[in-house]
Amino acid sequence: MDPTPAPHALPEVCDFTVFGGTGDLALRKLLPSLYHRDLEGQLPADTRILGVSVSPLDDDGWRDAVRSALTTHVPRGDLHEEVVARFTARLRHLPLDAQDPDDWHRLHALLKDRPRAEDAVRVFYLAVAPRLFGSICQRLDEIGVVDDRARVVLEKPIGHDLASAREVNESVGRVFAESQIFRIDHYLGKESVQNLLVTRFANTFLEPLWNSRWVDHVQITVSETVGVGGRGAYYDNAGALRDMVQNHLLQLLCLVAMEPPTYVGRETVRDEKLKVLQALKPMREEDVDRDTVRGRYVAGLVDGAAVPSYSDDLKATGGQGGSLTETFVALKTEVQNWRWAGVPFYLRTGKRMDRRISEIVVVFKEPPHSMFPGAEGITTPNRLHIQVQPDEGMKLHLTAKEPGPGGYRLRPVSLDLSYATAFQVRLPDAYERLLMDVMKGNPTLFMRRDEVEAAWTWTEPILNRWAAAAERPKRYPAGTPGPTAAAMLLERDGRTWQELDQ
Ligand code: BG6
Repeated sequence: MDPTPAPHALPEVCDFTVFGGTGDLALRKLLPSLYHRDLEGQLPADTRILGVSVSPLDDDGWRDAVRSALTTHVPRGDLHEEVVARFTARLRHLPLDAQDPDDWHRLHALLKDRPRAEDAVRVFYLAVAPRLFGSICQRLDEIGVVDDRARVVLEKPIGHDLASAREVNESVGRVFAESQIFRIDHYLGKESVQNLLVTRFANTFLEPLWNSRWVDHVQITVSETVGVGGRGAYYDNAGALRDMVQNHLLQLLCLVAMEPPTYVGRETVRDEKLKVLQALKPMREEDVDRDTVRGRYVAGLVDGAAVPSYSDDLKATGGQGGSLTETFVALKTEVQNWRWAGVPFYLRTGKRMDRRISEIVVVFKEPPHSMFPGAEGITTPNRLHIQVQPDEGMKLHLTAKEPGPGGYRLRPVSLDLSYATAFQVRLPDAYERLLMDVMKGNPTLFMRRDEVEAAWTWTEPILNRWAAAAERPKRYPAGTPGPTAAAMLLERDGRTWQELDQ
């Protein structure tokens, strides 16, 4: 067995360096997550958190910025003065101009500034533009702070196509071994996503049904109500396929479709996910034309408030607004292996949709024979809804007899499992789990190089076909479930998108 650290073990003492320390991700997600772990007593006393950025802030200036971010992003009940004081005392900030060798030497001095520098595991979290990944790693190597225990964390996107992803992987790989590289897909840190593995493989009743014999099709939806916010410049070069499908949705698909590994270990789960990515039906040009829909929001109403079109959102953040970038994707694919042959997997994701929900729906086949002649009411196929967020939980939809005499009246009912009710605990943010795994050196929930490249290999023909086609993304008003073509993608197969409350 590979030596996966025990789940409750404390991490080693760390120097956790965040490049992009004053950025949105650091202040909104990383620092609040580290604070929560400190609150739970999981950061060893000597662990330091070092922010590196172009901002001229000194230590106290960064501490103030982090304190104010905690006030915004940590629930009031979790903010305790003594913990905030302990946490902010760990913080140091270093203004760094990447071109200035003196600044890199200052970083070296800061990392060596410990009674025994070799005591701390060095983590370098690159919350910066991916084009900087290679050069930062090279500099870290040159100043001599990368040893065998050091780790680097890469935020997505890893490249914007296969060639650029390979380039990133090569350049980082020249400094760090694959076992030291942690590529984040924060969906893998979500409780409900990890629970998908447990539901499938720590129970017996689903596994015999989890195949093409009993499953009619699978739907994976990640629908958001937010627009592109202040990220227009990044998003307009990415679009929904690169931003969401290539990583988050394909990872969810992998967890639904993968074979059971012998045990959950640092390589075994990733080996199985890789096999799923490699089994995805390759998209030929005619498949892209028939089986994908791309859309883009125009002005509309979200939660009762008027919101502008994507082009106007983009102009407001200094962009051009004339691009063909998609903010919505729906597509149909298939996993070409013994278990899943012939079972469609429908994926969709979009911004500015009618509601915020991420869910997986496994729709089972109709019973082979209806033995209730003259029964009133409706029967619907059994469905397992796995709600990733919000309100994490599961619903199993069954058909039941409505109580009362006078024949069979069939009604759909559901068995509900709500995590909030069942466990009555705060569900930690995905980053909390992932950052602890980095500190403990457990890469199970991170994407391996071969996974990322396999995902690009499958995605790239779609990007190429879209780039070559004259057709523009279909328009959908903000606050709706996306373009009608997305509904037709299923209707032509005699199916519909399932809603949780149906
Ligand atoms: C990010 C994407 O990876 O995931 C964003 O870049 C998206 O565009 C976000 O909004 C969604 O994450 P979550 O956890 O809010 O579903």
